[in-house]
Amino acid sequence: MSIRKPLPHEAARLHVTGTARYVDDIPTPANCLHLAFGLSQVAHGRIKSIDLSAVHSAIGVVEVLTAQDLPAANDVSASHHDEPLLAVDTVHFVGQPIFMVAATSHALARKAAQLAVIEITELTPLLTIEEALAAGSEFEDPPTYLKGEPEKALNSATHQIDGTINIGGQEHFYLESQAALAFPQEDGDMLVHSSTQHPSEIQHKVAQALGQPFNSVRVEIRRMGGGFGGKESQGNSLACACAIIAARCGRPAKMRYDRDDDMVITGKRHEFRIDYRVGFDNYGRIQAVDFKQYCRGGWAQDLTLPVADRAMLHADNAYHLPNARITSHRLKTNTVSNTAFRGFGGPQGVVGIERVIDHIAHHLGKESLQVREANYYAPKSANAGQTTPYHMEITDSVIDQISDTLVDFSGYSARRTAVTEFNAKNSILKRGLALTPVKFGISFTLTFLNQAGALVHIYSDGSIHLNHGGTEMGQGLFTKVAQVAATLFAQPLSAVKITATDTAKVPNTSATAASSGSDLNGMAVKNACETIKARLVAFIAQNWQADPAKIRFTKAGVEIGTTILTFQEVIATAYQNRISLSSTGFYKTPKVEWDRTKGTGRPFFYFAYGAAVTEVVIDTLTGENRILRTDIIHDVGKSLNPALDLGQIEGAYVQGAGWLTTEELVWDARGTLKTHAPSTYKIPACSDRPAEFNVALFEQGENTEDTIYRSKAVGEPPFMLGISAFMALSDAVAACGDGTQYPDLQAPATAEQILKAVMAQKGETW
Ligand code: MTE
Ligand code: HPA
Ligand code: CA
Repeated sequence: MSIRKPLPHEAARLHVTGTARYVDDIPTPANCLHLAFGLSQVAHGRIKSIDLSAVHSAIGVVEVLTAQDLPAANDVSASHHDEPLLAVDTVHFVGQPIFMVAATSHALARKAAQLAVIEITELTPLLTIEEALAAGSEFEDPPTYLKGEPEKALNSATHQIDGTINIGGQEHFYLESQAALAFPQEDGDMLVHSSTQHPSEIQHKVAQALGQPFNSVRVEIRRMGGGFGGKESQGNSLACACAIIAARCGRPAKMRYDRDDDMVITGKRHEFRIDYRVGFDNYGRIQAVDFKQYCRGGWAQDLTLPVADRAMLHADNAYHLPNARITSHRLKTNTVSNTAFRGFGGPQGVVGIERVIDHIAHHLGKESLQVREANYYAPKSANAGQTTPYHMEITDSVIDQISDTLVDFSGYSARRTAVTEFNAKNSILKRGLALTPVKFGISFTLTFLNQAGALVHIYSDGSIHLNHGGTEMGQGLFTKVAQVAATLFAQPLSAVKITATDTAKVPNTSATAASSGSDLNGMAVKNACETIKARLVAFIAQNWQADPAKIRFTKAGVEIGTTILTFQEVIATAYQNRISLSSTGFYKTPKVEWDRTKGTGRPFFYFAYGAAVTEVVIDTLTGENRILRTDIIHDVGKSLNPALDLGQIEGAYVQGAGWLTTEELVWDARGTLKTHAPSTYKIPACSDRPAEFNVALFEQGENTEDTIYRSKAVGEPPFMLGISAFMALSDAVAACGDGTQYPDLQAPATAEQILKAVMAQKGETW
């Protein structure tokens, strides 16, 4: 059986030998044009004049287009039709594309784009959450989830505290920047290779940009060099631009963003501010909480509304909140339009409640783990009937079990004592320790997206060819899905080939997002394989006069009673007897239904759980810090591939910790992103990983819902394990004071932030 084995990534050999092909590696034909955008240098303004004569006459330039030259729709938005490919009349952020240049080389196109003379009458930009809030610049009226009577419960609680945490955004920093390549076909058709998590959306946007039906556009993607949500909608511009030029010039057209351009033009994780008021008892048990979440959406909606929804849906994390009010402000600003990023708003919601717990523990002088334990959702066995703030009953919680196991696994209690002793002895270095849990809802909250298709062929030699609607971005989806097909036919993994995701093979797909890739596509592939298998069984029964109940696909071959034939023999015979050896497959997630405007229903099929313990040390003179050790137990149900799952958990933790520590996005007063390269934007380096890193899958894990081989989604949930690093830093900072003042650490906790918080603890001014 192929599933459950720790098999390597299907393309690992290609990755490490540099032979894996990404969009930019596809050999470009000799007459290929290369594109670059001319960008706005102004955050908000009215375009007075555009002089592109120098661009036109620059060496190598073949075509220059502005909005008025576009053949059809000028719209690259994911949802709301509020995002033109090229600016019309006004500009809304620094980095907004105003025109495009097609030239004979990538360098010539970029060079020419610098030669434009554009006059813009500047308008006052709204850059920050506070500015947008004051101006009433919101995408929609703020929705609220309400459970119980939060106001009353808050007022009658023994203790009440309040506070605010600002949470920075995050650059995706996929290693492969955005890229597209369009090939014009006969009769106006278009083939587009796009580095995208969402080939169907690229197909739709390109078709609309060309003024053609969807069936005239085919989109292909073999793999991305990372996506992390940043290629869910942000590839639309490049694909549309390439297709428009390709159609107009009758030549292939290619575009890839230079790293700096990519960082300036594309949306990022949403910055949040979360204000909280909480009421609790002497044990730290929360009676009521009132959250106000504010998120910076940027200039266009993109995916801001569902991102903000998911932040609300994760404001409880793994804690039962008997009374709660969560209000969400979706702010429209003159900054880049923020987008999906691993966790999709969930992490920001979780930081809110983890901050509340940390604050409660500090207020009561309690160990934070005790406060966490006092608030965990009851285990499924307790049948407690506990509900979330959006009134979904929690019936699958294993958080207490995971947390207890992790306390043992990590030696938490002894280490807490050791940290306290260390801090008593050392005045310059201080250590901190924290355990944080994760509960993450699995399913697209836009219910109809929870569907997937597959296409399976068995060729007459018995080799299997597989396609599905998901995309590979390094997460190992193709490996897992191939394992499913190999298992169903009892064939080795090497017998299964998956080729590029292709809108002509599997249509109408959802983005590979929301961690649902293997859940959805694994099931669709299973469905297709089972259809073929049923045909084979019927044929074998008739051809070999066998009882269908006694036909088995095993490692030894196809068992027909006591006879064993090879899979290849059976397939060859089936072919000669004109049995169809190809099938589509389909899957839709059962049980989910959610009305986002009413905030009622069951948005999630199930939850993924995990917990992490992080120990850090800070230098109180500089704010510099290190992660000394991290221990993780994470629930992936029954793992489809433990090696890939462990890799996802490790990578997600480091990415989550990076978000809350070193990764700082800095804009200047004019709205220009100053941290637009790796020299200034600090993602974790290899040396920033925890010095000791112990990661284990939750052994008892099993999905209580009927998912693909009872596995659980793993892509996003462990990202939030990184929050334990932030909470450990808060713990270390708290050790610098006398316990009276809460550290009030803001995210990201850069060295500067930590130093500032340490000085506040010591009563020194910054
Ligand atoms: N892992 C790698 N190596 N590269 C990625 O881009 N994206 C993450 C996660 N893990 C990503 C990754 C995100 S944001 C999601 S939603 C899931 O993978 C998507 O894949 P899945 O649904 O197949 O898990
Ligand atoms: N993550 C979670 N939920 C989502 C996403 C995502 O990337 N995209 C749409 N819904
Ligand atoms: Ca947005």
